Amino acid sequence: MRMVEIIEHKRDKKVLTDEEIKFFISNYVKGEIPDYQASSLLMAILLNGMNDHETFILTECMLHSGDVMDLSKINGVKVDKHSTGGVGDKTSLVLGPLVASCGAKLAKMSGRGLGHTGGTLDKMESIPGMKINIREEDFINQVNKIGMAIVGQTGHLVPADKKLYALRDVTGTVDSIPLIASSIMSKKLASGSDAILLDVKVGDGAFMKTMQDAEKLANTMVSIGKYFKKDVKAILTDMDEPLGNAVGNTLEVIEAINTLKGNGPKDLTELCLKAGSIMLMQAKIVDSLTEGEELLKTKIKSGEAFNKFVEFVQAQHGDISYVLDTEKFQKAKYVYNFTSKEEGYLKRIKAFEIGEFAMNLGAGREKIEDKIDYSAGILLNKKIGDYVKKGDILCTIYTNKDNLNEFVNKLYSAYEFSNEKISDRKIIYKIIS
Ligand code: URA
Repeated sequence: MRMVEIIEHKRDKKVLTDEEIKFFISNYVKGEIPDYQASSLLMAILLNGMNDHETFILTECMLHSGDVMDLSKINGVKVDKHSTGGVGDKTSLVLGPLVASCGAKLAKMSGRGLGHTGGTLDKMESIPGMKINIREEDFINQVNKIGMAIVGQTGHLVPADKKLYALRDVTGTVDSIPLIASSIMSKKLASGSDAILLDVKVGDGAFMKTMQDAEKLANTMVSIGKYFKKDVKAILTDMDEPLGNAVGNTLEVIEAINTLKGNGPKDLTELCLKAGSIMLMQAKIVDSLTEGEELLKTKIKSGEAFNKFVEFVQAQHGDISYVLDTEKFQKAKYVYNFTSKEEGYLKRIKAFEIGEFAMNLGAGREKIEDKIDYSAGILLNKKIGDYVKKGDILCTIYTNKDNLNEFVNKLYSAYEFSNEKISDRKIIYKIIS
């Protein structure tokens, strides 16, 4: 078999055989296929697509390109969640303790933030002492003992995706549904859980800008789950404005803590209750979404959800005194109130712009090697639908940088106003199973 023929087949819109896909992945991982041929095939896939069967085989080959986690030593149904990424998305830090406090087992591997989106690992590391690299055996023991662990990748999982994703990033081949679906699902399947909830974000601050694309991606990933006989469900959720009010690592941890105590923003709380109830059904702890939501609410009210977060931080060597008294977190040197020059109903808060602005403040990375300033970020004071008068505070900016003038004007373009009342928005558009 020759790589050039595989490229020509996809260029000519043919369906690739299982053998051709296997040949490509195994030889690319071994370094026997050069990047220029791999990127040519990726571009042909982006332009001409893949059918479901090709996507399943691609996922299977990527999944088996490295280790697959064995979580069989964890008792009970193991549930996992994955978000396609957004701005202000601290859901894992709320959902993990919430479902674990109801008896679910969450064994989760998370990632770091890049560009305008944040990452759970960075948020966790803003709690002093918190460790995200723990041995596989300790990871399993922790989930058995307290019901949850969130760590960086352990073992040598899906090396094919590491190589391919880096190549796609620089060859304009990220935006392909079969490539995104196989990339996400190979990693999730390699992490070894029995059930997975996928949170597919839709809107300005998300990978998928339209409902149609988001639905297509979600359907593809759910069918990959079915092919591998895993219980995979997806929710399509709003990312047209940042989730919750906080964007930036320490600020988001504090917001997650407040949400676990029952004092979180409406959109974040609703998303966590709805997503959590689906996960509880997947874990076979409840029989209906209503029952799930009721159980989650009792765990918030009783303090068990917050106590689970404290246990989780302690198990991963974090200093719980910060969690018990969030005033202890280091504060940014400069705090500015960003006020409105306009009056009207807030129509849009462009999540992408807010995410980029937070990155400029120091809250995120432009390049992988950039260092994060945990205290930097933004607290939104107004959300879509709120009525704003001239001079009202739209958001508060936290930074250690003293050259804010350079880019603060960009923030105005993130906000759009309307004279008309904005109708109530949904946080979850659809559940796909
Ligand atoms: N996230 C991934 O893990 N892979 C993609 O291809 C896109 C987003």
